[in-house]
Amino acid sequence: MLRIGMLTSGGDCQALNAAMRGVVKAILNNSDEPVEIYGFEDGYKGLIYGHFRMLTGKDFTGILTVGGTILGTSRTPFKTIQDPDENGLDKVAAMKQNYYKLQLDCLVILGGNGTHKTANLLSKEGLNVITLPKTIDNDLWGTDMTFGFQSAVDIATDAIDCIHTTASSHGRVFIVEVMGHKVGWLTLNAGMASGADIILIPEIPYNIDKICKAIDARDERGARFTILAVAEGAISEEDAKLSKKDYKAKLANYKYPSVSYEIAEQIEKKTGREVRVTVPGHMQRGGSPCPYDRVFATRLGAEAGRLILKKQFGYMVGYKNREMVKVPLEDVAGKLKAIDPKSDIIKEAKLVGISFGN
Ligand code: F6P
Repeated sequence: MLRIGMLTSGGDCQALNAAMRGVVKAILNNSDEPVEIYGFEDGYKGLIYGHFRMLTGKDFTGILTVGGTILGTSRTPFKTIQDPDENGLDKVAAMKQNYYKLQLDCLVILGGNGTHKTANLLSKEGLNVITLPKTIDNDLWGTDMTFGFQSAVDIATDAIDCIHTTASSHGRVFIVEVMGHKVGWLTLNAGMASGADIILIPEIPYNIDKICKAIDARDERGARFTILAVAEGAISEEDAKLSKKDYKAKLANYKYPSVSYEIAEQIEKKTGREVRVTVPGHMQRGGSPCPYDRVFATRLGAEAGRLILKKQFGYMVGYKNREMVKVPLEDVAGKLKAIDPKSDIIKEAKLVGISFGN
């Protein structure tokens, strides 16, 4: 008997179901022994508290195109994973206990950065773990691409496309705030795909005067409007110089809902122009996965299935230089994949006149 536990953890994204379907189909189609699948509910919580349901191949049919996750998810911060819960329960010990009680042969964990730190911890504690790289942020180390990213790029691009038409009618400055946590992959790609004029990403701190200059320059060339794609983690040159502690203190007393509103107010004050802010927010993580993500997640899942059948554990299945790769979990955990400001894509964006506000 091959017993597989599976969970999805952290913020959801498109193609989680497609990835799980890929794993299960690859295993059911190729295993020499009977297979049992244990689906833990709501991420690591399900593993900690023993909340699971037995799943069969049927549960994974018809879900290729369905967004969200059939298992549910939650955020269980790594920071506190080794602290006892409110009733004094040792969470790591509880996860191990449930794994051994169910006689699992392995755990398949789908998640992003935080999830991978806990997955690595469980692997170091002796559990057989295989992970898949999920996140719209595309910020996981060890893989060129994460699933969910391309679907989110499509949605953010559509949002900016829509803003383009109304911005041009009214001759306004528009800011579209794009998700992405501490990195700018989503903003850069959606911004370039939709012809944004100014793209602000955390990796390239902005200077508000340079942003205003870029807007003025467009006006002088006869453009009636300007579109800014602003990453939710965008940061000014002044703030980037602050210590972590001082920046946290600034955010604790922040009077704006997010950075885009601060930038909007500054542009209005400095240029006298009317500025509007649009925040597509969690829409970017919702809905059906795009065809690219369906294929990509299926491939990652199938590869995870292959590794499980070969009893190779302790890896994240990633994608590097157009090939599926297995990356040791300890190499992934705790590292962020950010955009290199000197990379080709940034150079090319600048060549076509996109301003990064620096
Ligand atoms: O990590 C994915 C992500 O959507 C980020 O882009 C965003 O900052 C965050 O999750 C939002 O988290 P929550 O869903 O907990 O509000």
